[in-house]
Amino acid sequence: MNNTIDILLQHRSVRRFTSEAVDDELLGQIIDCGLRASNTGNMQLYSVIATRQEPLRSELCKLHFGQCATAPLWLTICTDVARYHQYCRVNQCDEPYGNLLWFVSALVDASLCAQNICVAAEAKGLGFCYLGTVNYNTRQIAELLQCPKGVVPVIAIAMGHPDEEPRFSERLGRDAVLHSETYHVPTDDELVASHKVRDEHPFNRQMVVENGTRNYCEIFTTKRYPHQMNVAVSRDLLNFLKDSDMWDF
Ligand SMILES: Cc1cc2nc3c(=O)[nH]c(=O)nc-3n(C[C@H](O)[C@H](O)[C@H](O)COP(=O)(O)O)c2cc1C
Repeated sequence: MNNTIDILLQHRSVRRFTSEAVDDELLGQIIDCGLRASNTGNMQLYSVIATRQEPLRSELCKLHFGQCATAPLWLTICTDVARYHQYCRVNQCDEPYGNLLWFVSALVDASLCAQNICVAAEAKGLGFCYLGTVNYNTRQIAELLQCPKGVVPVIAIAMGHPDEEPRFSERLGRDAVLHSETYHVPTDDELVASHKVRDEHPFNRQMVVENGTRNYCEIFTTKRYPHQMNVAVSRDLLNFLKDSDMWDF
């Protein structure tokens, strides 16, 4: 499979992996694809930490609540203003990037790099799963991976050779997402119609039964990402950023 469009359209997350390692050459190749991504001012305000050795791999997996436990390779992608500030110091320049604008810019750079890595990995027959749990234990992950201040883990990817054929998950279609020329606020009926693909999918209907919720939406609002948890995680994240004495937010 080497057609980019086919690779993109056939994407699915993989969460179970064989014990086969991702060899150095393959890892180097997919990282190079990440580094080719467009980025703010060509400043590349990110770093990628590849974790493969024990006991670090298992410790990191624990901080992701044991998800993707069989993954032989973990990529933690960090916003990295620290390296650029060091570059500024070496060149006897100001260090003007410890603020929201540059945190967001670095987050965009890191995301584009990550997705290039993932598409390249799929093209090479690897599987992967992004893990949002990086945002739940950011402080602990930063400590474990010895990130200096100004280096913030924002994206985690578990990767390896697939040991499962995951289901192909549904997506909202263009009718929900694509706006022509200007933003069109959908009527409630339009919104319900465009979400049928998700709400009425047999797999999701079964999830509603298993979770005992009134509908698919409620699985998210009461079980997966409830309000109180969102607030607590947000507070921890903000405190971590503030404690690093780096950010002028
Ligand atoms: C930022 C981000 C965080 C994610 N976090 C998790 C996670 O913590 N656990 C998990 O099993 N999947 C996680 N996923 C994978 C999504 O659940 C998955 O992409 C989505 O359900 C669509 O399925 P697909 O990728 O197979 O098409 C994450 C994906 C992204 C982009």
